[in-house]
Amino acid sequence: RSRQDVLTCTPWGSPIVWEGTFDPEILRQEYGRRNLTIGLTVFAVGRYLEKYLEQFLETAEEHFMVGWRVIYYVFTDRPGAVPRLGLAPGRQLQTRMVENQKRWQDISMMRMHWLSQALDTAICREVQYVFCMDVDQFFVGAFGLEALAESVTLLHSYFYRWTRSYVPYDRNPRSAAFLGPGEGDFYYHAAVFGGLCPRVKNLTESCFQAVLQDKRQGVEARWQEESHLNKYFWQHKPAKILSPEYCWDQAIRRRGDIRVARLVWAEKQYRRLRQAA
Ligand SMILES: *[C@@H]1O[C@H](CO)[C@@H](O)[C@H](O)[C@H]1NC(C)=O
Ligand SMILES: *[C@@H]1O[C@H](CO)[C@@H](O)[C@H](O)[C@H]1NC(C)=O
Repeated sequence: RSRQDVLTCTPWGSPIVWEGTFDPEILRQEYGRRNLTIGLTVFAVGRYLEKYLEQFLETAEEHFMVGWRVIYYVFTDRPGAVPRLGLAPGRQLQTRMVENQKRWQDISMMRMHWLSQALDTAICREVQYVFCMDVDQFFVGAFGLEALAESVTLLHSYFYRWTRSYVPYDRNPRSAAFLGPGEGDFYYHAAVFGGLCPRVKNLTESCFQAVLQDKRQGVEARWQEESHLNKYFWQHKPAKILSPEYCWDQAIRRRGDIRVARLVWAEKQYRRLRQAA
């Protein structure tokens, strides 16, 4: 199976997943012999919880790794406010307490720290693969086994057709996230990343180390953790890249290359939510 109209393989040989490049039935047979549990982490801190979490989880039940064992890990400052949903058999939800931060930029950067700690002590004992996702989005199409690999990242729906000199990498040489001319492969969106649990642990810990290094320098990367994630995946090539189908912004006019949407951006109300965070 292949697609002629889009890039389906990176220069270093990793697949880029688009509708039409995989066969769900073959994947089901392949993974059927393995006793898989897949983790899905999501942060719902401050007002993000009421605004987005229920729809995220409800639609994940309909579309995310359906038929497989899944553990949702909800990181929140108010575990008692997490909606109680009826989950399909084999699927469970756990909550993890985290402290709200004053600035949304700090929540974004602390995510890497909280994840790296939780992956270490508990999550990696329970799941083989883990995905880490933003909460302000929801599923509208199948997000299945085709997304699994040792390390997985996502093409940003705004920048996937841009040449890398124009994408918003961090260009400040004092930041650990700095990428110079000719550096970087694609622009990755931090709203979805994942892989084998120890690999995701390595990513989150490395990114948090880079955040701390920036703090010591008195700088902040242009797009916080996303800038560090882009630097990380430039240095440690991802084993699989998801096309923008896996996190599409419906405000963008779809071209023929986007044949399905699987996860879409929720309406963002940054000003209001961030003030109140
Ligand atoms: C599969 O994994 C689950 C959870 O880790 C475990 O409870 C179950 O016993 C395993 N089943 C087999 C057949 O190994
Ligand atoms: C991540 O993995 C790389 C390569 O295996 C290793 O050199 C590095 O020390 C690891 N980093 C962390 C923070 O675990």
